[in-house]
Amino acid sequence: MNKRKIPSIVVLTGAGISAESGIKTFRASDGLWEEHRIEDVASPEGFARDPETVHRFYNLRREHLLSSEIQPNAAHYALAELENALTKLEQDLPDKTLSNYTLVTQNIDDLHERSGSDLVSGNNLLHIHGELLKIRCSQSAQIFPCYEATSPLSVCSCCQQTGNLRPHVVWFGEMPLYMDKIYQALETCDLFMAIGTSGNVYPAAGFFEVAKSSGAHTVELNLEPSINGSKFDEQIYGTASEIVPDYVNTLLKEL
Ligand code: APR
Repeated sequence: MNKRKIPSIVVLTGAGISAESGIKTFRASDGLWEEHRIEDVASPEGFARDPETVHRFYNLRREHLLSSEIQPNAAHYALAELENALTKLEQDLPDKTLSNYTLVTQNIDDLHERSGSDLVSGNNLLHIHGELLKIRCSQSAQIFPCYEATSPLSVCSCCQQTGNLRPHVVWFGEMPLYMDKIYQALETCDLFMAIGTSGNVYPAAGFFEVAKSSGAHTVELNLEPSINGSKFDEQIYGTASEIVPDYVNTLLKEL
């Protein structure tokens, strides 16, 4: 009987993993938050004040995400490969365990999906800050795919009303998604990796501490040290498309 223990892994990604795919980060000197005020485009109050501007902001980002120039990069593909390898190992085990791999992303793009993450299990990729390619009815909370531009005049397909649709994005002051599931994974993981995130936004910025206090090895992979970088057990700095595949290859050899 195969008694090998498959490591439980939680990966947290941020805007830095998608930077080389052509999507702007938030806090770089040319980042999104240099060009837009958070309170205008990423808060419930901003949306209540000027829904048209908020719809336009997300319409432009959606259009850009769907343009042919935006593609997953080697870092996204490496994580998909890691997930596949873990899934295969799990299938070989006689007593099938629950998924040992959780990919938590703060990104609202779909580049993890496009690179093949979450294809096998279909429930271990968690968009904690929502998804750009989805829209939600603020009355019923029903979520719909969204590939087109929207406005306050768009008619919601569940309530048939205008003015009820909003981006399926978690704004400042709102509760991030999947928190129970994420904390459960953090409390039982052996390895926690944070990739391409500056550590400015909680609760995600505090996930490494939960994992660490549960005994996990914590690794930061980023262009530069994040706010809490020195508190991770291991730090690897460079561009995501180089350091993530290298790190994943090392892990795969150990599995
Ligand atoms: N490779 C690796 N890391 C990179 C790269 C790259 N090519 N380019 C940039 N980075 C790093 C930056 O050094 C920075 O530390 O990615 C990080 C991006 O930080 P932020 O712009 O703050 O993005 P993120 O941490 O994802 O922001 C968190 O803030 O406004 C919100 O909701 C938004 O989900 C977002 C949250």
